[in-house]
Amino acid sequence: VATLKDQLIHNLLKQQQTPPPIKITFVGVSAVGMVCAISILMKDLADELALVDVMEDKLKGEMTDLQHGSLFLRTPKIISGKDHNVIANSKLVSITSGARQQEGESHLNLDQHNMNIFKFIIPNVVKYSPNCKLLIVSNPADILTYVTWKISGFPKKRVIGSGCNLDSLGVHPLSCHGRVLGEHGDPSVLVLNS
Ligand SMILES: NC(=O)c1ccc[n+]([C@@H]2O[C@H](COP(=O)([O-])OP(=O)(O)OC[C@H]3O[C@@H](n4cnc5c(N)ncnc54)[C@H](O)[C@@H]3O)[C@@H](O)[C@H]2O)c1
Repeated sequence: VATLKDQLIHNLLKQQQTPPPIKITFVGVSAVGMVCAISILMKDLADELALVDVMEDKLKGEMTDLQHGSLFLRTPKIISGKDHNVIANSKLVSITSGARQQEGESHLNLDQHNMNIFKFIIPNVVKYSPNCKLLIVSNPADILTYVTWKISGFPKKRVIGSGCNLDSLGVHPLSCHGRVLGEHGDPSVLVLNS
């Protein structure tokens, strides 16, 4: 029979269990991916940051730069790799990979190219981080968010699109008195708060 002392010590030990590290992964580490990764680091949101891309040299360069700067950050572990096992045990995986929009091109033109990339990436995210949340940034963002939800089989609350947030660029957030509604891209509509 456990004594009162045993029970107290047992409870104390339970409380001391450290939570699993918060790992955030970016798949695609060019312009958008790196801005997102640096923002996460500056806000101390992750214990571990992982970067995945198909361009190995670039990936290594970006990772090394971040590691050198990590003296000033609170994310002690920054890793990268071409192999998707780098994603393992992530709490959040953000997909920022794929072709970008060319001048005058619609977001929607990117869909087939980026969809093929997603068909390859998403099953690996599911395999290595089955409990993560997925944040889709690649364009066409809304379509690829839907595709990701379908391919992953995740509940919808775990598949999030970046939406129209970035359409407010250039205006100070405190000066934004409206909402951008609709598909992220040319058809979006600005509605002013009443
Ligand atoms: N949702 C938004 O608000 C928003 C804003 C800006 C850009 N975007 C979109 O984000 C995406 C990335 O934009 P960018 O300017 O960084 O493009 P980019 O071309 O500079 O970079 C894309 C990166 O994806 C990598 N990549 C390609 N195939 C890959 C694969 N199979 N696995 C891993 N990595 C792969 C490339 O090597 C490259 O480093 C584009 O689709 C762009 O349209 C979305």
